[in-house]
Amino acid sequence: MVFSKAVLVGAVLMGSLSEAKQQINNVWYCDPVTQMQYTNVGCSGTYNTPSSMDSTGCSVDFTSVAYSGPLAPLNDEITFHLRGPIKLYNFAAYYIDDSPDDATPSTYAAKRDEPHKKHRRFEHEHHKRNLKVKTEVVEQVVTITRYADAPAPSSTTTTSSVYVAPAVVANAEKGHSGKPAKPANGDVWKRTGYYDSASQKSEGITFMNNKGGAGSGTWSTCFGNSISFMSADGQSGCATPQILADNVLFGVNQEFSIWTNQSCDASTFSLGGSSVCRRGFSGNNKVFVFKFTMPSAHTDDSNIYGNSNMPAVWSLNSLIGRSLQYPSNPSWSCWNGGCGEFDIWEVLYPTAPACEYMTSTLHSAQGNPGTGKGGGGTCDYFERPTTGTFTGMVSYLADGTITIKKLDDSFDFPEYITTNDIKSGISGSTPNFKVAS
Ligand SMILES: *[C@@H]1O[C@H](CO)[C@@H](O)[C@H](O)[C@H]1NC(C)=O
Repeated sequence: MVFSKAVLVGAVLMGSLSEAKQQINNVWYCDPVTQMQYTNVGCSGTYNTPSSMDSTGCSVDFTSVAYSGPLAPLNDEITFHLRGPIKLYNFAAYYIDDSPDDATPSTYAAKRDEPHKKHRRFEHEHHKRNLKVKTEVVEQVVTITRYADAPAPSSTTTTSSVYVAPAVVANAEKGHSGKPAKPANGDVWKRTGYYDSASQKSEGITFMNNKGGAGSGTWSTCFGNSISFMSADGQSGCATPQILADNVLFGVNQEFSIWTNQSCDASTFSLGGSSVCRRGFSGNNKVFVFKFTMPSAHTDDSNIYGNSNMPAVWSLNSLIGRSLQYPSNPSWSCWNGGCGEFDIWEVLYPTAPACEYMTSTLHSAQGNPGTGKGGGGTCDYFERPTTGTFTGMVSYLADGTITIKKLDDSFDFPEYITTNDIKSGISGSTPNFKVAS
């Protein structure tokens, strides 16, 4: 790793050839980068997660979940969490689009057999990449359902459900009139979740926070606040899902999260109750883009560990948010058992220079089986956008990689992107962090 880093300095780093590696509060910082790839992300194991939480007796029952696969456990549903000081301008979730391009519903079945058609090519591509793609033809209406290819759990105590990218299915069902042209080259990924602060557009997603008891969710003396729908100003809970208002600056230590807009099935446990239960973003191939700014905030010098100037964007196994993100008893969430977290852009120290550095880290059992405490992170960092904006993509792919890259701010969160958009710029010289097995 040290060798490869030295080689790529010229191509990727913005700074001078070799900036001093420095340790601040037990964290190593190396060089500023604009892209970073984690490899060997997935591992296998089991973790316990609450299956019921009794807020009168403060008792919790657990179920054991087994996982395996190239991204595991992050092939499971994940949710995104943001901590201030931060302002979110845009968010998008992209999934491989299996819907036909220009076919009408009644002719699509026949067209499937023409090998040169685009959708046919997708099938080949999927086959090559070992994705499980299931195509259903229902009453002349073609419903193409891409099942997230989570590996079958080996434990019978696990309930495994599949996430169906909602917009893709809806699009296939309603035919294709008015559908914008897809880009011509490469595999096509469709935007299934979208937020644009300026136009107040929100599609396929739900904004949530941990203010259960205020409008939605629950509060109890045993467990405190569950998850809740977030009010538009981001300051409180709300009875129903709201669109995050334009120009909201989340302050120091204020957090919120982004989920899909899909309700849970009855078997999914949620401390806040089923009405507030939403699904995360599941699957072995999923790509997300964020645009945000993280303005400086006053640093509370009396408590530098109080997240006072430490904004962050990170992803968690969705089971964590549905039980407790910050449980008073660590076992009351699956985090401790290694159900998975990937920090994408996280500031870990409130004063300069480290407050300008956005770090990344995998928290899972990978490399330390059975403990839930493996993973690891690179010492390279992205530069925090304190004044301007930062547009960044994070892709979780079936080859066991998680790739983070800064995009040009002109990226406009289009309805379709291609695999080429996702992979462009990534090469053998991209800074690489191979997670230890
Ligand atoms: C989810 O969002 C999509 C896109 O905006 C919308 O078409 C769909 O009706 C929503 N589903 C639910 C259950 O709200």
